Amino acid sequence: MKGIILAGGSGSRLYPITQAISKHLIPIYDKPMIYYPLSVLMLADIREILIISTPQHINFYKMILGDGSKVGLKIIYKIQSEPRGLPDAFIVGEKFIADEKVALILADNVFFGQGFTPVLSEASSLKEGAVIFGYYVKNPEEFGVVEFDKNGKVISLEEKPINPKSNYAIPGLYFCDEDVVDNAKSLEPSPRGEIEITDLLKEYLKKEKLRVQLLGRGFAWLDTGTYDGLLEASNFVGTIQKRQGLYIACIEEIAYNKGYITRQDLQKIADTISNTDYGKYLKKISDE
Ligand code: G1P
Repeated sequence: MKGIILAGGSGSRLYPITQAISKHLIPIYDKPMIYYPLSVLMLADIREILIISTPQHINFYKMILGDGSKVGLKIIYKIQSEPRGLPDAFIVGEKFIADEKVALILADNVFFGQGFTPVLSEASSLKEGAVIFGYYVKNPEEFGVVEFDKNGKVISLEEKPINPKSNYAIPGLYFCDEDVVDNAKSLEPSPRGEIEITDLLKEYLKKEKLRVQLLGRGFAWLDTGTYDGLLEASNFVGTIQKRQGLYIACIEEIAYNKGYITRQDLQKIADTISNTDYGKYLKKISDE
């Protein structure tokens, strides 16, 4: 399975922070936001990754992550010249996807919780159709919303409904089969002029090929789309990391644990940033 990180958009809801920098480079506690979605793809065992961003920002991502080889990945980049909607990521990425299955993650989505790795492994082993997630939130009207019947069967999907039919928001992580590119191409723009991810998911639902996996109440899916959301996500990550001494979304640690890089590779990275807590953490892991 391949992976796409969509780091597009103008970040207008976070002005003035995002006047000159891309939203997905803003730090969440001690690392750039994009580390969090990248770590999710890595935990799903996805090593071939396409990062899509704007013409103004794409080079900053290249500066941070390069070709991915430092963490055992193969990362390539593509520009989305204007925001045309989330499913456009599959159209921009058509050549990269090359008739394989693909996971799309939105670069501002932060996930954390016990048992996430097996959930990801299951989703990434999908044979056909699509797998998405459902997460109970207080403000479903700000997201894609999924409604179930009493047997847990999906009955509707709506994008930012004024009167949501449930409290289950759909996080920005979607696992799709090979049909995704054609499905994305067949979509008509919504009244706001963009193609919508919920319309794409409805195509799978129509064919009874959509599976929704619920993420329970012990799980954190954090919103980074507002000033408060950013601060709360940073505090959340800082709190857990300081309490446990274990890092969230440490891509070098994941690469090492998965055997993508050697102890020497990890030590080398740690040495270059040995004056930071992050570097000391990597050093500690490589010494264990
Ligand atoms: C997008 C999707 C929405 C989804 C959300 C998750 O909304 O359109 O369905 O629930 O991402 O982050 P956006 O936040 O881009 O407005």
